[in-house]
Amino acid sequence: MKIAILSRDERHLIELSRQLRARPGSDEVDMIAGTPARLSTMSDDAIPDLLVVDQPRADEGDLDQLERLGHLFPRMAFIVLSADLSQDFLLRAMRAGVREVLPAAPAATDLIKAVDHIAEKFGSQGAVQGKVLAFISCKGGSGATFLATNLAYALSAGGTKRVAMIDMNLQFGDASLFVSDSKPLATLSDVATQIHRLDPSFLSSSMVAVTPNFSVLAAPSDPAHASDVKPEHIDAIIKLARRQYDFIVLDVARSLDPVTIRALDHADTIYPVLQTTLPYIRDGKRLLDVFRNLEYGTDKVEIVVNRHDNNSDIKLKDLEQAFDTTHLRTMPNHYDAAAKSVNQGVPITRLAPESPLSAALMTMARSQTGEAAPQAAAGVMARLFKRRKTDL
Ligand SMILES: Nc1ncnc2c1ncn2[C@@H]1O[C@H](COP(=O)(O)OP(=O)(O)OP(=O)(O)O)[C@@H](O)[C@H]1O
Ligand SMILES: [Mg+2]
Repeated sequence: MKIAILSRDERHLIELSRQLRARPGSDEVDMIAGTPARLSTMSDDAIPDLLVVDQPRADEGDLDQLERLGHLFPRMAFIVLSADLSQDFLLRAMRAGVREVLPAAPAATDLIKAVDHIAEKFGSQGAVQGKVLAFISCKGGSGATFLATNLAYALSAGGTKRVAMIDMNLQFGDASLFVSDSKPLATLSDVATQIHRLDPSFLSSSMVAVTPNFSVLAAPSDPAHASDVKPEHIDAIIKLARRQYDFIVLDVARSLDPVTIRALDHADTIYPVLQTTLPYIRDGKRLLDVFRNLEYGTDKVEIVVNRHDNNSDIKLKDLEQAFDTTHLRTMPNHYDAAAKSVNQGVPITRLAPESPLSAALMTMARSQTGEAAPQAAAGVMARLFKRRKTDL
């Protein structure tokens, strides 16, 4: 693991690095003299997996700086050493994204234990790479953008996963509007035309921050700028995003051009979205033929049957036969909730959590994050809690 220690005091730097170098394994330990502000211009290669911050001063804005670093480098973990362990300090530190706070000059064993705990998250291979999930509609209007944006939001909703969504509909992308009413300040074509500036800070500031851990990189606002984006730009952006985010959700256009194919090449899973009518099924089969020619394995492609209705003329069994698979994911039809969500630009799981469509999205998200479903409070407690809530 790559560890950096940050302190104003050189003696502390030397002592802490001596303690950390004693940790079994092959950590790289760097010392940085100064305040958190020094790190905001850090290059991509220099970002540590873990930053140990020695005695940040809340009154000098160090915690605000840490919060800023947390946004810039979302995959970096923090340990803070502080003489001030007041409730107020701890709360502010946690809000800034700090995972562990230890007393100043901690016992070596306590420091190592805290580092071990964080190292477990990274695994023995070093920093975890984010997962790329790509949605593509088999035919216009199948719901690919709706599902991509809402799944991205659902992945982030537990608060522990960092999620980036990239709208790859270069001509008429609209993904950011599905989950936010903020106008994007920059778009994918702005990032592409200034690719020499690409670093975590430039990427994150080019995105619309929907929530602290979910951001969207919007599509070019003018279709004429679509040609600014080249396949090598996609390589660079996704490579960086994998290091910064746990999930990168792509809303991919159906026009199979070199940029789209490059994005699909990077995907860990591709979700072609269709509905249960013949035109969708015909185009779905064509798309799957293309995927076969591109040598995407069956384990990389998971068909999503959107707006699924058990009473439809074409049954799921027919679809399984048509696509020669038993692994079809279905999303229920819920027109009212979906339309309201799209019209208000608010994710459906937030606007209509009771909708069966929200439930299906949450299940899909949990299958990716491994997070457990919240337990329903049982019996009397549940009724009491319900009454309480309505009383308020
Ligand atoms: N499961 C669903 N139930 C009801 N309505 C849905 C559902 N999924 C999507 N919709 C509706 O379908 C509309 C079209 O969806 P969306 O824009 O996501 O399609 P798309 O596949 O991205 O289209 P395009 O190919 O044009 O980009 C949305 O406005 C949404 O209201
Ligand atoms: Mg779309």
